[in-house]
Amino acid sequence: MTSRTDEATRRALADPEGYWAEAARELHWFKTWDRVLDDSRPPFYRWFAGGAVNTCYNALDRHVEAGRGDRLALIYDSPVTGTVEKFTYAQLRDVTARTAGLLAGLGVGKGDRVLLYMPMVPQAAIAMLACARLGAVHSVVFGGFAPNELATRINDAKPRVIMTASCGIEIQKIIPYKPLLDQAIELAQHKPEACVILQRPMVRAERVAGRDHDWDELLARAKPHDCVAVAATDPLYILYTSGTTGVPKGVVRDNGGHMVALKWSMTYIYGVRPGEVMFTASDVGWVVGHSYIVYGPLLQGATAILYEGKPVGTPDAGAFWRLIAEHGVSTMFTAPTAFRAIKRDDPKGKLIGKHDLSKFRTLFLAGERCDPDTLHWAEDHLKVPVIDHWWQTETGWPIAANCIGLERLPVKPGSPTRAVPGWDVQVLDAASQQMKPGEIGSLAIKLPLPPGSLPTLWNNDEGFVKSYLVEFPGFYKTADAGYIDEDGYIYVMARTDDIINVAGHRLSTGGMEEVLSAHPDVAECAVIGVADDLKGQVPLGMVVLKAGVNKPHDQIAREIVALVRERIGPVASFKTAMVVQRLPKTRSGKILRGTMQKIADGQEYRMPATIDDPAILDEIGESLKGVGYGRKG
Ligand code: COA
Ligand code: AMP
Repeated sequence: MTSRTDEATRRALADPEGYWAEAARELHWFKTWDRVLDDSRPPFYRWFAGGAVNTCYNALDRHVEAGRGDRLALIYDSPVTGTVEKFTYAQLRDVTARTAGLLAGLGVGKGDRVLLYMPMVPQAAIAMLACARLGAVHSVVFGGFAPNELATRINDAKPRVIMTASCGIEIQKIIPYKPLLDQAIELAQHKPEACVILQRPMVRAERVAGRDHDWDELLARAKPHDCVAVAATDPLYILYTSGTTGVPKGVVRDNGGHMVALKWSMTYIYGVRPGEVMFTASDVGWVVGHSYIVYGPLLQGATAILYEGKPVGTPDAGAFWRLIAEHGVSTMFTAPTAFRAIKRDDPKGKLIGKHDLSKFRTLFLAGERCDPDTLHWAEDHLKVPVIDHWWQTETGWPIAANCIGLERLPVKPGSPTRAVPGWDVQVLDAASQQMKPGEIGSLAIKLPLPPGSLPTLWNNDEGFVKSYLVEFPGFYKTADAGYIDEDGYIYVMARTDDIINVAGHRLSTGGMEEVLSAHPDVAECAVIGVADDLKGQVPLGMVVLKAGVNKPHDQIAREIVALVRERIGPVASFKTAMVVQRLPKTRSGKILRGTMQKIADGQEYRMPATIDDPAILDEIGESLKGVGYGRKG
């Protein structure tokens, strides 16, 4: 018998236009599309070309107009400020409409960019929705990035307005955001016309006369603004993500395809019904936050939780269970690292028993490989299905998952299950040939990608093609390596580029190497991702000094750690640097980062045939032991 997943997969691949048109009819269109899939300009594909929509209308107004205005749309739960604030759909629509009016008053209109550098407060989600309402393009930058990274994004997105808050709160640490923003604007060539600052009571931000405005003052005067119809193919947002260099990629998301895909995913992947509560513990600065803290739940008419807290420390490892019980959460989504943190503090899961989790149905994990230990711990203690699923900033929603809204397939630990309907995932070798089940190769997705995935990079069609479409003609390169077994289960093993995954955050070691190279005493360097029990991976830097430098090595290491924090930000979790005499290389001069990583992680490694001088690996092994790595050698 064909399963529901098989049937949906067959239909979505055989007749993508029919399949996604049916899904699109669940949403409101000011004008229906001319073509479901415009494939007239490969490799650029556009979904719902000719259609006119508004994502905010579909996320908010549609529900209010259908008489569901009293339903809860958003719950802001902030243990760090001791606040719980609830917004019905009508309330969220009203404040969003006024925030859109605020932005319009500053001259923001269709196609203008608005950059958001915000902590996890409701205004972050409201500002995103307000941009969508106007047809403006938001670009949210995660608060843990340093001014330099923010400046790069300001230069690329060229925002007309920047919205921020006076501070973020990291457990008990207050982090003033405004000085970081001022520094970023100073560094950037592009200057915004205006900044809007949400003054939080813990810190008051200084305002720059003529440029900075007080959020609440402007909001009090603002008139509600209606939804502006935009082309389905117009951009909704730009989200920067790490690429293979220090220059991040501006992933573009369109309006039409995005809302269709997210609404479909809420029903068929997450199994969340309208009126139910979804709790995604991430940050609006990441794609997970865009898709499943803000847009997905609201498009579905569900209740979203915006949590300003951590899995542990706010106040303890029972924080998630309190939220689930207090707000009647049916579905939760976070990264495995959050569970490793909880497991570390409460290994027996004692705090779970203190809360009523009777409404809780499913836990979803993504953002990094889910180690079987974490999977089993969560299953054993929570007694609900734990679903590992795989996706990327670029794809916007899951590529592989156990689609519990279709049916629940058996779990195979280590696998995010099968390709989600619409994604034709294949394992390819270097010659773009499909590999056999069980063989490891590059995970690639046959074009066209389904709705919701990136149509291009911001102002960079060429970069889009070069980064994703050239290596395997006719396919999108995920830059993940893995295999597919006989049952179609996908196994995602490792990145094929220099990206590392630190606490579910995607970072480029190449970007960090650029920072290390900028240190005046450094001749050459390498950054590798080493295994970490909590964060999955953490970066480790190795530097070779310029001839004649005779500063103490620990001083250089401290300076390098500080430099990465200053240039990239605390999110990099870059805490270990060491000075080495030489770096191992191939005869053609390529640094053997992969081999060093294996040594650091205490894994077996094969001596590369092309190595220039094998003795260097022993030296590196000794140095790594000195900083606590490479135990088994
Ligand atoms: N603004 C400013 N600084 C921030 C920040 C923000 N929004 N988010 C994190 N930081 C800082 C932290 O304070 C920390 O700084 P420190 O070096 O001074 O201690 C640093 O960035 C690293 O943060 P993080 O990676 O979060 O590590 P942590 O040790 O504070 O916490 C976990 C570890 C596992 C608890 C945490 O990573 C977590 O909650 N992860 C959940 C998973 C997640 O959200 N994944 C996103 C994709 S789904
Ligand atoms: P990001 O763009 O930040 O969401 O990071 C995407 C990358 O995280 C992917 O390319 C994978 O390398 C990794 N990733 C995300 N989810 C999973 C998963 N379930 N299993 C393995 N790796 C994952």
